[in-house]
Amino acid sequence: MTKLAAIRDVLPGTRRVVQVGGRTIALFNIDGVFYALDNACPHRGGPLGAGRLDGTIVTCPWHANRFDVTTGQVVTGVRPVATYAVHVRGDDVLVDLPDDASSVEAKQVNSSG
Ligand code: FES
Repeated sequence: MTKLAAIRDVLPGTRRVVQVGGRTIALFNIDGVFYALDNACPHRGGPLGAGRLDGTIVTCPWHANRFDVTTGQVVTGVRPVATYAVHVRGDDVLVDLPDDASSVEAKQVNSSG
């Protein structure tokens, strides 16, 4: 597992974009539950972490494809977005990456509410 963030750094209703292990992951906190998905929209790579969030649905800021953050399923668009299993350990939020290199250090790209 790889640390993405400290719990206190992603408050409910906010998200953070983190680069880790060669990936860019959007980490959302929805009502205290964390969800991680590829930041790159499967349409043309738009930044999902910068998208508008309505409930559990994020809208890509580039062409408005919509995805359920909790499952990665596409709501409007063609293909689902990859998600990652999230674990909370102590004060940290961690994810399972397919080729997990546990020594990889997460680097924050940006964050917004
Ligand atoms: S890049 Fe996301 S909808 Fe086109």
